[in-house]
Amino acid sequence: MNLIFLGPPGAGKGTYASRVAAKLGIAHISTGDIFRENIKKQTELGKLAEQYINKGELVPDEITIKMTLERLRQPDCEKGFILDGFPRTIAQAEGLEKAGIKIDLVLNFLVPEQVLIERMSGRRTCKKCGAIYHIINLKPKQEGICDKCGGELIQREDEKPKVIKERLKVYAKKTAPLIEFYEQRGLIKNLDGNRPIDVVVDEIINLIQ
Ligand code: AP5
Repeated sequence: MNLIFLGPPGAGKGTYASRVAAKLGIAHISTGDIFRENIKKQTELGKLAEQYINKGELVPDEITIKMTLERLRQPDCEKGFILDGFPRTIAQAEGLEKAGIKIDLVLNFLVPEQVLIERMSGRRTCKKCGAIYHIINLKPKQEGICDKCGGELIQREDEKPKVIKERLKVYAKKTAPLIEFYEQRGLIKNLDGNRPIDVVVDEIINLIQ
């Protein structure tokens, strides 16, 4: 199963993808996580990506396509994968097609804008393993500490109100047109992402099994 999780920032793509990938034993590829890992290590890619991410803009297509195609060539993707946060532009979707990557299904998560803002403002991410929490919806057992690895929970740089607004604008302009792109290919399935996490995850599993 090769899946794409599509939706605005804060829709829950990363939350659902990590759970579904673990249940199905397939790879979870988050371009946002790859960029953040590179920023943490201050690689050349990280230094470049940071300039765009901290402003809420997209990292240029050429760099992002190359990075994602390299990741898809890793052996853990042979059994299937979930792309979380890629493609984000028509050029990126065409990049996948040109590389001959077959996609079975695109899940598009629908969540009202006010809920997206609340989710992003309250999100906390583990500095060490990347696990995602929320100060109200998904609290860790101990405040500020990751349940899975004991790492410190932090707020992402791109979660400031001004940057959140910019990311929503960029989504509407550059990423939302992908809904039609995949509709034309008969691959899209819309899901209500404004329900409890377990309910959404169960629906995804039922859909693809
Ligand atoms: P990325 O990390 O991909 O950010 P995003 O797509 O903006 O998505 P988010 O991670 O903000 O949200 P999500 O949908 O994964 O929601 P989450 O599960 O965390 O990208 C960051 C940046 O990197 C981009 O802005 C861009 O600059 C760059 N980038 C990445 N990919 C790129 C690409 N392909 N091209 C160019 N640039 C790229 O959930 C949010 C919160 O809500 C959490 O706290 C969670 O606990 C909570 N929550 C989730 N689901 C529910 C639910 N059902 N009920 C209650 N709470 C919930």
